[in-house]
Amino acid sequence: MTTYKLVMPEDMNHYGFLFGGKMLMWVDEVAWIAVSEDYPTLHFVTVGMSEVKFKKSVHPQSVLRFETRRQREGRTSVTYHVDVHRRHIESRDEEIVFSTDITFVCVGKDGAKRPISKDV
Ligand SMILES: CC(C)(COP(=O)(O)OP(=O)(O)OC[C@H]1O[C@@H](n2cnc3c(N)ncnc32)[C@H](O)[C@@H]1OP(=O)(O)O)[C@@H](O)C(=O)NCCC(=O)NCCS
Repeated sequence: MTTYKLVMPEDMNHYGFLFGGKMLMWVDEVAWIAVSEDYPTLHFVTVGMSEVKFKKSVHPQSVLRFETRRQREGRTSVTYHVDVHRRHIESRDEEIVFSTDITFVCVGKDGAKRPISKDV
């Protein structure tokens, strides 16, 4: 799944670069949309991210491209790999600024984990 985000002035930290917490929120959001598209009848919560390393700073008015792909399905969990590219609008040059594997666990209405099954 591919999604884009325009980075706005309110997303910055007090040094003028993107606040890391915003990046984590967007990654969680795009990957949650991907898992919900793949398993529309099931409910998922985030359990963890493999790595959190901000490789390059991101300036206001950058366009970010999020590439999300399913990597592994377990008994109760599903893992997605997310690459975030910083995109230069005019030249279309891109470089990766953040990558992680994010895992979701399937839960019932009570919030307890449950096996993934497509016949719900
Ligand atoms: C998600 C939750 C239901 C999992 O319950 P749990 O009893 O801790 O689960 P387990 O340790 O048995 O792990 C369940 C699955 O998640 C996987 N998992 C657990 N911790 C993980 C981690 N840090 N990274 C990747 N996968 C992980 C396990 O491998 C297992 O996968 P499998 O069943 O496909 O083999 C529970 O931890 C929870 O409610 N957490 C809060 C979730 C939440 O509110 N998220 C929003 C962010 S605040």
